[in-house]
Amino acid sequence: MCGIVAYLGERDAYHVVLKGLKRLEYRGYDSAGIAISADDQLKLFKKKGNVSDLESFIEGKDLSGGAAIGHTRWATHGEPTDNNAHPHLSSDGSLAIIHNGIIENYSSIKQELINKGHVFKSDTDSEVAIHFIEDIQKNNHCALDEAVRIALTKIVGAYAIVIADKHDPDLLIAARKGSPLVIGVGKGEYFLASDATPIVEYTNEVVYLNDYEIAVLRKSGMILKNIEDVQTNPYVQTIDLELDAIEKGGYKHFMLKEIFEQPKSIQDALRGRLNAAKGDLALGGIRDYVNRIVSADRIIILACGTSWHAGLVAEYFFEDWCRVPVEVEYASEFRYRNPIVREGDVIIAISQSGETADTLAAIELAKAKGGIIFGVVNAVGSSIARATHVGAYIHAGPEIGVASTKAFTSQVTVLSMIAMIVAYKKGTISQTRYHELLAELETIPSKVEKALELSEESEKIARMFSDATNFLYLGRGYNFPVALEGALKLKEISYIHAEGYPAAEMKHGPIALIDEEMPVVFIATRDSSYDKIVSNIQEVKARKGKVIAIVTEGDVLIPKIADYVIEVPVTNEALMPLVSVIPLQLLSYYIADIRGCNVDQPRNLAKSVTVE
Ligand code: AGP
Ligand code: GLU
Repeated sequence: MCGIVAYLGERDAYHVVLKGLKRLEYRGYDSAGIAISADDQLKLFKKKGNVSDLESFIEGKDLSGGAAIGHTRWATHGEPTDNNAHPHLSSDGSLAIIHNGIIENYSSIKQELINKGHVFKSDTDSEVAIHFIEDIQKNNHCALDEAVRIALTKIVGAYAIVIADKHDPDLLIAARKGSPLVIGVGKGEYFLASDATPIVEYTNEVVYLNDYEIAVLRKSGMILKNIEDVQTNPYVQTIDLELDAIEKGGYKHFMLKEIFEQPKSIQDALRGRLNAAKGDLALGGIRDYVNRIVSADRIIILACGTSWHAGLVAEYFFEDWCRVPVEVEYASEFRYRNPIVREGDVIIAISQSGETADTLAAIELAKAKGGIIFGVVNAVGSSIARATHVGAYIHAGPEIGVASTKAFTSQVTVLSMIAMIVAYKKGTISQTRYHELLAELETIPSKVEKALELSEESEKIARMFSDATNFLYLGRGYNFPVALEGALKLKEISYIHAEGYPAAEMKHGPIALIDEEMPVVFIATRDSSYDKIVSNIQEVKARKGKVIAIVTEGDVLIPKIADYVIEVPVTNEALMPLVSVIPLQLLSYYIADIRGCNVDQPRNLAKSVTVE
């Protein structure tokens, strides 16, 4: 969580950092702060609230200086207050730090420092880190980068840090372990950020810092070393990220833009990989390893949140088409459960950000147990993309709205392609079915486009139910994960309590909740369990629940029973989640917007969960 940005060079450092913080605000918005190093002083400004609160607070102040560090916080240790906002200073005020992550052993270090007379102004773990570095530098009479290195050998936890020194405004020191940090390389200037979005308008040459690496940056050049004090060579990569992709482009919110981008983002996931007319389907990234899945005894899918829902859809693909058992695991549970990973198991890790701490740790654990890890990731060059043995990017482009939308459909698209390839190679689906699936998958972008044309229907229904306090989402088969995803979308951005359930499970408990106040969203498209779900709708109507049904175009039966219906185009049952999720994303978006919620930055959440 939290976004960090820093700049060193000849530009107006404050403006570069402030603009960068705005781009990273999706990562945290409890407080924001900037420290500028100039004229033997650190000009420090920090404020509870979001980046624009900080901006108004510092208006009119002297902001000159060529080195600056900035932070937008997602609090882990200490409430969101001005004092707990980053940057934090050393006790003599000469060093400033920004930190993303958690210093797990901060309290023992803090106690030692208190015994030595240090006084802390905040409740954060991060302030402890800068006091610790200051203490080491004073005791060892060493250079700042050496003090940072020694401190990091003793610090336990996750961090991406950048440190500025008021006595040396031509110096920034950065390091990472577990939290992301990218260095943009310009001519005589450096940009640092949690992801590349604040950097791309200045340079597309970047270095992704590795775990346990320390960067010592001066306008004249960069030195990289690891915490064993061995110098390493920076690997400069060129990234391909357009500025348009990280701006709202006329939409009211990033989430809405990203929902409407889906015909294109799904197309981008298919591009160069699928050609149904020729019967071609290939994923270059996994080609050399695909036989490992073909011969797998079991597939374990690791993910969190929406990515976990995409994993559930994939479970149906792999079991249905490839006849291989699949377990879909919450990464956070898997990593602490002493799980069994056997030779012959294949692990698929799914992540939009590629930085989710639980997923990353689960991957490391599975790797240590000898598992072969496939990644299905959006963020190119991210920690998860680098930690997996092999992978296929989903190419959805930057997803900035905290509520994940286009990443879900692109993940499902890529996972469906992997499963089709494996099923074909294994011979567990017929040639005819394989070619039908390829052809159908190719039509999905246009079907999603059609589903989006009916956005007004979702908006109308949103108006009717924006005051509801609870929602149930029910689906069967391939639409069950969609029900979970619909409920997650609604709760995270509108704060309405929502539950997703397999429709048939309703009678084992949730049916007790149904009365005339309870909206129940059925994902009831025409598939093999259609008749069963119609009965479930009847059961809800018999108890006076309000039914909103997502149905297939041309359905004449459900519109007679349900209170409201939204049609989606016909597609193969297995690919239906790609289409049926669209009205649910729209419904939650409009409900949240009508309720006046901050759609792109819902309370308490952050886009990448880089802490446990
Ligand atoms: C989705 O809307 C959520 N904000 C969240 O559940 C997210 O999907 C989860 O944190 C996993 O993130 P990842 O895909 O970046 O690993
Ligand atoms: N642990 C630090 C804090 O609570 C940083 C949190 C973050 O990464 O957002 O301030």
